[in-house]
Amino acid sequence: MNVRKLMAMKNKVPITMVTAYDYFSAKACEEVGMDIILVGDSLGNVVLGYNSTLNVKMEDIIRHLSAVRRGAPNSFIVADMPFMSYQVSEEEGIRNAGRLIQEGANAVKLEGGKRIAPLIKKLVDMGIPVMGHIGLTPQSVNVSGYRVQGKGDDSYRMVEEAKILEEAGVFSLVLELTMEETAKAVSQAISIPTIGIGAGRYCDGQVLVWHDLLGINDEKKMKFVKRYADLSFQIKEALKAYIEDVKGKKFPEEEHVFKEEGK
Ligand code: KIV
Repeated sequence: MNVRKLMAMKNKVPITMVTAYDYFSAKACEEVGMDIILVGDSLGNVVLGYNSTLNVKMEDIIRHLSAVRRGAPNSFIVADMPFMSYQVSEEEGIRNAGRLIQEGANAVKLEGGKRIAPLIKKLVDMGIPVMGHIGLTPQSVNVSGYRVQGKGDDSYRMVEEAKILEEAGVFSLVLELTMEETAKAVSQAISIPTIGIGAGRYCDGQVLVWHDLLGINDEKKMKFVKRYADLSFQIKEALKAYIEDVKGKKFPEEEHVFKEEGK
């Protein structure tokens, strides 16, 4: 997979993207043919246990990105640029984006619109593919809160932002928690693929967070999430069975032990 192939999928084949943060989840994604693996800063919430993505540092993304790359050596991997890795100066943004590419990412993802267009232009000029991200942008949660975007006149603003980002050179655009009609208008207004999360049926692709998709996250389910498994339940059942076996001296058994031949 590469940027050119992904862009050619618009209006033809829906793009599949999922987050992954470690070796085995990445390996599974590669084995089933996921189009894009995202090392998202949602790792702050679902792996590190913070209540927002604001605590995630470059070092966190790099550590998880390198594990994901080892698990999925041939996949197209996008790495999130964490909060404050591109806000201070363009120079710092360029250095951090370059670092993520050197650590194994094929592209970087940045949250925001017009304000970051000049940085995006520079990154793209340097050969660093950029995925945009508008709608709900969790790194701005202290400003906008967690609420659905693109209502009423905000729809026009989102379409304009999307056009600016396309012009700046992003190869695709994540639309998060956005009214379906607005996501549709954005998708029709630009010629690069949109990838939705809580943005309805008219995006050019979909993305879900690993722990939501698999039901590892057993906390209140967001309306836009579809759980394809209930792993939280299965994990707890397995752990209970292990405790019971060990306490009841039923594990280990004959088949699990090392013995000299014939003894
Ligand atoms: O960090 C993340 O998981 C994301 C997705 C919600 C798109 O940015």
